[in-house]
Amino acid sequence: MEFKDLVLARRSIRQYTDRPVTADELMYIMNAAINAPSACNMQSWHFYVVSDPKVKEGFKEFCADWISTAPIVVVICTAGEEIVSRFGEKAKKFIIQDTALAMENMLLAAADIGFGGCIIGAYDDDKCRALLDIPAEYSPVALMPIGEPAVVPSARSRKPISEVVTYIGNSFNI
Ligand SMILES: Cc1cc2nc3c(=O)[nH]c(=O)nc-3n(C[C@H](O)[C@H](O)[C@H](O)COP(=O)(O)O)c2cc1C
Repeated sequence: MEFKDLVLARRSIRQYTDRPVTADELMYIMNAAINAPSACNMQSWHFYVVSDPKVKEGFKEFCADWISTAPIVVVICTAGEEIVSRFGEKAKKFIIQDTALAMENMLLAAADIGFGGCIIGAYDDDKCRALLDIPAEYSPVALMPIGEPAVVPSARSRKPISEVVTYIGNSFNI
């Protein structure tokens, strides 16, 4: 899909068909993730791709139960040890930004090949860490179920550009 169409067509998908995600499709999505920009190119992220049905069922205990209906759930983690040791506290914002950019690339790549995903921020970090046995050097920041949409919701409204942009200078005559 052309980028201008893709960026408008993407939706957060919360209902999925049973169609599995193939290895090639997963790699398309993960390749988009790792090609996101990152602070100092330090790529301060780590991803768990969960397809095991029993583990997916475990997510229900600490976040929305529809998540386990997706064929895969990616747990996106920060892996900030290196960048934080180099830049200190201010690097904490970098590692969140790095993962956020990777996630948007993943959502757009998924939509590009007929899949959909949803960023889930409302879940229990500690329970997620325990379920996947995530080591201390990684911190989960979001879950992302991905699969073929069973239902594509209509677009949610956006605040107008005029409300969210402040122009410094008058070059645009808007
Ligand atoms: C940081 C972040 C956290 C989110 N957390 C959740 C969540 O916990 N549950 C959920 O259903 N959707 C979640 N979403 C998805 C948003 O609800 C969704 O992006 C927004 O309503 C706009 O809809 P759209 O993505 O279809 O354009 C989250 C999105 C972001 C960016």
